[in-house]
Amino acid sequence: MRLFVTGAGGMVGSYVPDVFGDCELVVTDIVDGFESVDVTDGGSVRRAIEKVRPDVVLHLAAATDVDRCEKEPEWARRSNALGTENVVRACEGAGAVLVYVSTGAVFSGEQAEPYVESDPPGPVNVYAKAKLDGEYAVAARLSKYYIVRAGWMMGGGKRDTKFVGKMAEFIAAGRTPLRAVADMRGTPTYARDLLGAVKRLLATGAFGLYHAGNAGSCTRYDMALAIRESIGRPEIVVEAVDSSAFPLPAPRGRSEAIRSLALERLGFAPRPWRDALHAYVTTELAPRLGV
Ligand SMILES: NC(=O)c1ccc[n+]([C@@H]2O[C@H](COP(=O)([O-])OP(=O)(O)OC[C@H]3O[C@@H](n4cnc5c(N)ncnc54)[C@H](OP(=O)(O)O)[C@@H]3O)[C@@H](O)[C@H]2O)c1
Repeated sequence: MRLFVTGAGGMVGSYVPDVFGDCELVVTDIVDGFESVDVTDGGSVRRAIEKVRPDVVLHLAAATDVDRCEKEPEWARRSNALGTENVVRACEGAGAVLVYVSTGAVFSGEQAEPYVESDPPGPVNVYAKAKLDGEYAVAARLSKYYIVRAGWMMGGGKRDTKFVGKMAEFIAAGRTPLRAVADMRGTPTYARDLLGAVKRLLATGAFGLYHAGNAGSCTRYDMALAIRESIGRPEIVVEAVDSSAFPLPAPRGRSEAIRSLALERLGFAPRPWRDALHAYVTTELAPRLGV
């Protein structure tokens, strides 16, 4: 299988060589070290995909800084909605299957139960609205596509500067007390597992919309406790705080929790988030932190 990847230099893209090592890979991004393809430039995307003639395009490129998106909505729209539309048109021209990684943040966040694929979206911030517009662009023009919504992404190992990476670093350094938000829920999604699910989906031909978070849901506080346990530092104090303790420019729903119901129905239920988090921390972060 020939696989063309956009945004390959990011957190999810860092697992592509491992998970898709048996494929012919063309990895592109706007960052150094990758073939340069800017998805906001329709002509460049079309030419690159026409030249490669991939079987599958894995579209990861996105403006993922949710707070910057809120402050720069035009950048968010261009990167996430228009950029996706450009990739869609190129796939249409080349007859390639498209995998578009979207987000569980497309929901309003008011629902008590984790969101499933059939729940109506209702984005509350600019980032999520632009990602949802990307989904609409995919579904409007293509029939051979997978839209795969992820939850709170974790991964990246050495380059992880997100919540899990930072918490693990603080805990390993003995920083105490730590504070973590306990009034918002989400579904941790190990980027490696996400790509594993994509790979299994590609073998089915069962096109459509999927949620692909690890099983279960939690708060950042729950995650911090789990990271502390994986690193084995029970003396570190973690305090539960409200999200008002960390004011951010972009509004967030109370819940971004998703259930991967369509994957479960295919027999591909993802592993529980605690197992995935433990695997990530112990295999990728602990060696880097020397713990
Ligand atoms: N991170 C999360 O928590 C999360 C959750 C759910 C879904 N997702 C989705 O999962 C996908 C992958 O996310 P990720 O966590 O791997 O994000 P990431 O680490 O930010 O990687 C995205 C990559 O795309 C690049 N990029 C940005 N604009 C581009 C453009 N116009 N053309 C080509 N490349 C561009 C980025 O470069 P720069 O670094 O220079 O911007 C970066 O290398 C995204 O579609 C994202 O919306 C992410």
